Amino acid sequence: MRSIVLKAQGLKKYYTSGENVTKALDGIDLDIYYGEFAAIVGTSGSGKSTLLHMLGGLDTPTAGTVRVGDKELSRMDDEALAVFRRRSIGFVFQQYNLVQTLNVRENIVLPILLDGGTIDEDYCREIVTLLKIEEKLEQFPNQLSGGQQQRVAIARALAGKPSILLADEPTGNLDSRTSQDVIAFLKASNQRFQQTMVMITHNPEIAQMADRIIRIEDGRIKTSVPGYAEDEHVKMSDPKTADQESPADMQTRSAAAGRTETSRTETSRTEASRGKSASGHPMEGGAEQCSR
Ligand SMILES: Nc1ncnc2c1ncn2[C@@H]1O[C@H](COP(=O)(O)OP(=O)(O)OP(=O)(O)O)[C@@H](O)[C@H]1O
Ligand SMILES: [Mg+2]
Repeated sequence: MRSIVLKAQGLKKYYTSGENVTKALDGIDLDIYYGEFAAIVGTSGSGKSTLLHMLGGLDTPTAGTVRVGDKELSRMDDEALAVFRRRSIGFVFQQYNLVQTLNVRENIVLPILLDGGTIDEDYCREIVTLLKIEEKLEQFPNQLSGGQQQRVAIARALAGKPSILLADEPTGNLDSRTSQDVIAFLKASNQRFQQTMVMITHNPEIAQMADRIIRIEDGRIKTSVPGYAEDEHVKMSDPKTADQESPADMQTRSAAAGRTETSRTETSRTEASRGKSASGHPMEGGAEQCSR
């Protein structure tokens, strides 16, 4: 049985302003499994970022719980929560959240240094080379384009090899070629370090590269299906019953689609290694050092 890394139960987030109540999340039950690469999709304002923030312990729910292993995030004190986030979670924010007074190199290694960790120089070089920011390491965020800042945010989230990566539209500001490279890299990293990844995207092609697509509507999960089955499922789904599927349902659907989760994983592995570096990463090569 696959183990659950993140478990949201009855998750609600309501914002009240005068008489208006915005139900950003309205009862989310969601299991994220160890090592899976899940995409969250949905229209603007449907609650995707709110959900991701809750999963990462960055915001507190109005009701419901998020558990990481046997720990309930809302019961952890601020310090324990901060340590958990720094050690276990890499977060790519929708607005990047780079520290403006630090240069690119310093931004990338900041979470590692805050946690007293050791910087893996080779891995840092690999990341900045893939993301094509090796020439920008001494520059400051306000000297970079939006897409370059987004790539720095991705590098920062990955540099500490977190066990969980939560990424909010990590390719939203990138051209399609660079987006494909970034997603291929994320998938290779997911396989190489057995990372669990949850990624919000508006791009259907990128969503299809995920193991599972979770569709959010009005703060609720509308569907949760294997990536390649999404189009078919949306056509077939009954909005009243098309809530989250159990892993058994997903496997049944996979079999019906003539492909299995296993074959998909193997495909990912093949993609990760095909014509790419021995380490399994899509690109590898000399870059400026990540730290002086
Ligand atoms: N701090 C806040 N105060 C009040 N309402 C909020 C707040 N944050 C989010 N909301 C509301 O909650 C709803 C969900 O917002 P959220 O940012 O999760 O959407 P999203 O799916 O990420 O959208 P997008 O694709 O545009 O990023 C929206 O209606 C938004 O206006
Ligand atoms: Mg958002």
